[in-house]
Amino acid sequence: MTKITLGPKSLAESPKKYCRIILTEDKPSWHRLVENADGTLEYKMGAGKRKDITTRTYRTMIRAIVQAAKAHQLEHIAIHIGVMGCPQLEAMGNNWAMRTLAENLQLAAYEFTKYKTKKVGKMTLKEVLVCGKMNPAEKQSFSTGLIVGEAANITRDIANTSGEDMTPSKLTIAAKTALTGTKAVVKILSSSEIKKAKMGLLEAVGKGATDKPKFIIIEWWGAGKPTAGEKKAGKKKPVALIGKGITYDSGGLNVKPSGAMHEMHMDMSGGAAMIGTMRAIAKLGLKKNVVAFIPAAENSISAESMRAGDIATAMSGLTVEILHTDAEGRMVLADAMTYAEKHYTPKVMLDAATLTGASLVALGQHTSAVMTKDKQLQDRLVDLGEDSGDLVWPLPLWDEYKASLRSTRADISNIATNFSRFGGCIEGGTFLSFFAPKKTPWAHIDIAPRMESIPSDKLAKGAAGEPVRLLVKFVEQYG
Ligand code: BES
Ligand code: ZN
Ligand code: ZN
Repeated sequence: MTKITLGPKSLAESPKKYCRIILTEDKPSWHRLVENADGTLEYKMGAGKRKDITTRTYRTMIRAIVQAAKAHQLEHIAIHIGVMGCPQLEAMGNNWAMRTLAENLQLAAYEFTKYKTKKVGKMTLKEVLVCGKMNPAEKQSFSTGLIVGEAANITRDIANTSGEDMTPSKLTIAAKTALTGTKAVVKILSSSEIKKAKMGLLEAVGKGATDKPKFIIIEWWGAGKPTAGEKKAGKKKPVALIGKGITYDSGGLNVKPSGAMHEMHMDMSGGAAMIGTMRAIAKLGLKKNVVAFIPAAENSISAESMRAGDIATAMSGLTVEILHTDAEGRMVLADAMTYAEKHYTPKVMLDAATLTGASLVALGQHTSAVMTKDKQLQDRLVDLGEDSGDLVWPLPLWDEYKASLRSTRADISNIATNFSRFGGCIEGGTFLSFFAPKKTPWAHIDIAPRMESIPSDKLAKGAAGEPVRLLVKFVEQYG
């Protein structure tokens, strides 16, 4: 674990054991490690011309510092980074810069070591000392960033854990653990309660597994729980956050090919992101009402598994022909959306899910996809994506796409009835739109492209912990 602490006003005042990171205007690939006569170490790094530093390069620059410190096995580093006379950062303001600094130091410091036996031996980065003069608001922003970054790292821990160690019931424990010591309320529906609630799609997806489905609800009433009267008057409505919680996706009887299955322990990344987001919201004590819903199930193979061609009845009453057992995420989300609307009448609903491989085909691995009919909500999410670093980019959610899901034997099918793979990401969103609330704004975020980090992210390999930063900002600003 790397400690991230506030230090003296200038780098020069930092104690000798800290290697001082000096940013220059050289090219970002340029770097030198210098040992001074007094024994102090200086690491000079090119950051490019200040006028060219963008919000995006600022984030990766912070991460690059941590990465370099790890590569050089530096145990203690001192940095002094603010808006640094960079016009594009100055436009965002000091508070944004301090929060972003803290978030990205946390994200970059993260390593997943749960299954490594040789924990000692390799030197680890023990401490980052953050120097500079900060006013109380900047300090507050910095500590907010630390909380948000830590929450995203907990999300990564949950997603990086193997499927056998993160079954639906173990995910309920992870949720409770993450919220321990906060005033958030964690409620769990057992598989018999799921049955009683008529969540037939969640039940169908999980019935092949030994560890049966669970439905996790995390409530945060930071603005006060609405009284019966307030509820009736539509006051204090919560934001609903729904996260796909497939703890392992083998594909079911339509089994995934080898090479496409082993990473499916991360198929609960949406659910894990909601756990992290709720932890951050609770730790920050946001005066907002938010409820997270995580339909948790393992898409497994056994004699009890759902079959291709089976028809299941959703909580909403719609019948669904399961044409493909690997299109399971949309099924569990559908019931979660119905449940959220029925029992909590939210003011806005967002879902995040590693829903389709097709989203990677459409967008590559730099951005998640967002689909909504609400233009204002779309713009907010795209803007907050840019602001937070959890990028999202729109795809259409037009009614024209609905026709391909009209089933012959049931109301709708879970994939296109002609088995076309065209527009697969939109198809997933379109399926969900059949279950979306009629009047409440809703957006679907397909986070499969950002499920795991890529080298240019300058983060540890594995789960990326998205879109925790985006969701926390969304709740802060629009909750
Ligand atoms: N969990 C997968 C999607 C996925 C793929 C996430 C790669 C992250 C990386 C999802 O449940 C799935 O299998 N989707 C199918 C849908 C298809 C059957 C319509 C897919 O993407 O192939
Ligand atoms: Zn699947
Ligand atoms: Zn899946």
